[in-house]
Amino acid sequence: MRPPQRVALVIGVIASSYLIFSILFSIDEHYRVIYEKDTLAKATTKKQSATKWVNRKKVLIFAATTFFGMDIIKKGFLDECNSTKGFCEISTSRSDADRADAILFHNADYSQMQLPKKRNPKQPYILWSLESPANDHFRPGKNVINWTMTPRRDADIWYPYGHLEKLDHKNEVDYEEIWNMKSSTLPPATWLASNCFAKNRRTELVKELEGKGLKIDRWGRCGKTHPTCFGVEKQGYPCVQELVRPYKFYISIENTNCIDYVTEKFYETLYSRMAVPIVLAREYYQKLGIPDDSYIAIDDFENLEDLAAEVNKIANDKQLYLKYHKWRETYRVIPEHHDSTGFCELCRRLQLPIETSKSYEDVNGWHTNGMCNQSIADKYLR
Ligand SMILES: *[C@@H]1O[C@H](CO)[C@@H](O)[C@H](O)[C@H]1NC(C)=O
Ligand SMILES: *[C@@H]1O[C@H](CO)[C@@H](O)[C@H](O)[C@H]1NC(C)=O
Ligand SMILES: *[C@@H]1O[C@H](CO)[C@@H](O)[C@H](O)[C@H]1NC(C)=O
Repeated sequence: MRPPQRVALVIGVIASSYLIFSILFSIDEHYRVIYEKDTLAKATTKKQSATKWVNRKKVLIFAATTFFGMDIIKKGFLDECNSTKGFCEISTSRSDADRADAILFHNADYSQMQLPKKRNPKQPYILWSLESPANDHFRPGKNVINWTMTPRRDADIWYPYGHLEKLDHKNEVDYEEIWNMKSSTLPPATWLASNCFAKNRRTELVKELEGKGLKIDRWGRCGKTHPTCFGVEKQGYPCVQELVRPYKFYISIENTNCIDYVTEKFYETLYSRMAVPIVLAREYYQKLGIPDDSYIAIDDFENLEDLAAEVNKIANDKQLYLKYHKWRETYRVIPEHHDSTGFCELCRRLQLPIETSKSYEDVNGWHTNGMCNQSIADKYLR
């Protein structure tokens, strides 16, 4: 085979084994890819806060909206729900609305038109969104929504982009393997992004950091084009994993800074890219219970010179660098699509009797008020 064909074949094989089902939709810089990795299957322990469940009855969710125009169906949405397998169904058929146990709306696809004509108070209306509150106005009006399903820890159903779970036994970590993955010739850090004009000024910050002496390979729209990894800004792509792995650090600054809004780029950095994320502000990660020494926070530093010097020092010191991987002995990363959160948690919750009635008078206020801060980088920039 000639090299281009070989490359195409390899890419094809990797892609097809990884991508069981992919949703490609870009809102801002997100491309969400729902995929399955064999390592995911090993995940068995449930998060503590996940509902204790017994499969009591079969439940049916009526999806009144699409997900960015795509039907919300079992495949891709309930695939990971082992604990409720056979006990939870989703229907997109309006004729199922009356008998459904809950009615689901995805915010970006919501319109009043989709509301059932007559409301059954026993059916919770659920609003789902994974977007940053800074870019996402919650559409439903007063007391329409009973439950929220978002990355916020205090949402009724927690649907994060990932999370870290403390292990009850100690994990063996192959530090040599991690160190050997890392290149000694590439710059210490890399970044890939497609939204170069984010409100929190992250592009300016990254460039300023380069000016202060930290070498960063920037890929995607805010950097250079990669010769083989097409669509490099799609965080879930296998070629992106291969691209990032040899770097010691990954610039993991969200496009907006909001409470509990930590996306797949952060979790993938820890999980499949085996790199150390450099984040903007520590408090957002601490609130999620992510161990302090698994990432570097820019706002721990007075100025960018100090930060650049520290990152360079860590990059050149094997012992020091590997300390940032020590958390792997006591935690593991749980990816977005997992039995303990999101749709699977919703399925479990619906099997329990609904004892109290609740609804959001101002669901958009809940989503956005006091949640975001886009001026954290300002102190480092003129
Ligand atoms: C889910 O079920 C599949 C097939 O039955 C199994 O291979 C996998 O290990 C299970 N995953 C979890 C998280 O239990
Ligand atoms: C949902 O909200 C409506 C409107 O406030 C209310 O009548 C109904 O009881 C609520 N249902 C549940 C299950 O909370
Ligand atoms: C945003 O963050 C900056 C820096 O951490 C802080 O000084 C400022 O008070 C914050 N603003 C809001 C509205 O919380």
